[in-house]
Amino acid sequence: NTVHVILSGGVGSRLWPLSRKSNPKQYLNLFKEGSLFGMTVLRNRSLCNKVMVVGNCDNYQLSKEVLNSQGVEYVDIVEATPRNTAAAIAFAAFAAAPDDILVVTPSDHVIVGEDDYNSAIQTGIEKAKEGYIITFGIKPTRPETGYGYIEYEGDKVLSFREKPNHDTAEDFIERGNFLWNSGMFCFRADTFLTELQQFEPKVYATALAAWQHQKDGRLDESLSKKIPSISVDYAVMERSKKIRVVATQFQWSDLGSFESLYDYLRSTGYTVDENGNMIIGSDIYTAFVGLKNTIVVYTDDALLFVQKEKSQDVKKVYNTLEKHQ
Ligand code: GDD
Ligand code: MG
Repeated sequence: NTVHVILSGGVGSRLWPLSRKSNPKQYLNLFKEGSLFGMTVLRNRSLCNKVMVVGNCDNYQLSKEVLNSQGVEYVDIVEATPRNTAAAIAFAAFAAAPDDILVVTPSDHVIVGEDDYNSAIQTGIEKAKEGYIITFGIKPTRPETGYGYIEYEGDKVLSFREKPNHDTAEDFIERGNFLWNSGMFCFRADTFLTELQQFEPKVYATALAAWQHQKDGRLDESLSKKIPSISVDYAVMERSKKIRVVATQFQWSDLGSFESLYDYLRSTGYTVDENGNMIIGSDIYTAFVGLKNTIVVYTDDALLFVQKEKSQDVKKVYNTLEKHQ
């Protein structure tokens, strides 16, 4: 089997107040085509013959609504508490057969270019069958510090560096032989588990213990809390010798923050005033005096004003909230 594993555990706190704990960004109908989650499912239907969703107890109903409406059968894995992506992917690998090929994707990316996407994933699937862990690389356009960087030569990965600081990221861009890690991966279930066991034996063992006590895909809370929270990038990608990269051609955007949402919306012709200000979520007449590059976000019960360059800090607001999360 070729299994599409959808990671949908994040709350999207940097897109608060659009994105909420009970309604994270991947389920919002931000686009005429529907939600990012729905588009992610559709995009992979012709490439994979099975679907697994690794989500959490706050959002699994939302995944279910989308998948049911699309008539897609799937394996539902529901985390009791988020333990980051190394464990989330391990659960999918435990649920799969050892020789299943897993195509792991986040549920919150915008991808344009269907043919290029399909051919990248098909190339990845073929290489994964040979026992490699495939990452899909994106040509970088700025020294973004929120991504992983892949130093490469052909399909060989010379090094993988997760979230470098700004100076290092600038150096990577200058050197020219780096790609962004898209956060999508492809591998045989057993290949991944062997690498995880080797590099993070504690994550492997505690995730396995939690998995062995799951009931209908629902994980036990107290066992889950024992799993170290580490991302797959630090746990496996920075360390494994089995990584290969597929350099992709499709248009990719991670709508992680208002800055990236702003850039994306502007590229689609969305209105921005002459000082770079943008209004999201309302048709209410809004005037900006003396403000530049400000994004105003309206929702029914919360309002956000954020300077575009400070978009990453919205997470801090979210983390201090008791109400309105
Ligand atoms: N089920 C589950 N459980 N999913 C999770 C969890 C969890 O505990 N934590 C994160 N996820 C999901 C998120 O919802 C998202 O879809 C995906 O896993 C990646 O997590 P992020 O938190 O968004 O990671 P990141 O953006 O910091 O970094 C990753 O993505 C970048 C590209 O967008 C890395 O892979 C980077 O290397 C990469 O460049
Ligand atoms: Mg992300």
